[in-house]
Amino acid sequence: MAKKTGGSKQKLRVVRALPALKGVIAEYRTRHKTIALVPTMGALHAGHLALVQSAQRRADRVIVSIFVNPAQFAPNEDLKTYPRTFAKDLAALRHAGADLVWSPDVKTMYPDGFAMRIVPDGPASVGLEDRFRPHFFAGVATVVAKLLIQCEPDFAMFGEKDYQQLKVVTRMVRDLGLKTRIVGVPTVRETDGLALSSRNAYLSPAERQTALILSRTLKECASGLRADKPVDDVLDRGSNAIKAAGFVLDYLEARNADTLAPLQSGKKEPTRLLVAARIGTTRLIDNLAV
Ligand code: PAF
Repeated sequence: MAKKTGGSKQKLRVVRALPALKGVIAEYRTRHKTIALVPTMGALHAGHLALVQSAQRRADRVIVSIFVNPAQFAPNEDLKTYPRTFAKDLAALRHAGADLVWSPDVKTMYPDGFAMRIVPDGPASVGLEDRFRPHFFAGVATVVAKLLIQCEPDFAMFGEKDYQQLKVVTRMVRDLGLKTRIVGVPTVRETDGLALSSRNAYLSPAERQTALILSRTLKECASGLRADKPVDDVLDRGSNAIKAAGFVLDYLEARNADTLAPLQSGKKEPTRLLVAARIGTTRLIDNLAV
């Protein structure tokens, strides 16, 4: 039986070594407790806490992993400066009623001589994030596979905010026959529409204001597509609006919501709008169902 969602202060275990993690998991299993994993890189915000709540609704015990995964950052990306707020994260998780934080160091996750990489295909090679961050999904797939093997969860929660990542992980679990069920959780937004992201911390107040163009444009494009306006026109208008606001646009695309393949003309199919754009030194992504 899944337990009630948090809010009360309770004992949060913090574990950094694999034998200790395995000990706690064995204890959960002996007591017939189901387990949900929330994989994170820390710098937790309300979007992560929504994942924790969703996990609490499904499982008896909630493990949150906090590991800034070097394998998913390219040399020119923000690994060194990625926000690290461990003490604050623990306080938030304690308050949310999570049970266990799994926070290995890099040597524990990737011991000397580590020579393994999962290189996903399918939704990982559709010309979206993979076009701009070619190293990214192998890094994510490898670490998520390790986290699933380490934590042995019944469920693992992933935000729809990283929609392509959600699809890649779902496919990986299916293709490798892993027993964990991957659960997608809707994006949490500020009241003005900005999708919550740890990288929002990089935005200046002016950039944060400008960033609202992304969610606005997605909404407008979704209305246009629902009204059967031509896809190319809708996306052109949207792209121009994002660029005019001051962003460098990586992509604004309408894709099949399941496979992420380009839409086939004249065919009705479940559709997802996805955007990635850069402002100053910050790269933001967002997406919306049509
Ligand atoms: O979405 C993230 O925070 C990361 O990509 C994940 C899934 C925790 C893997 O490092």
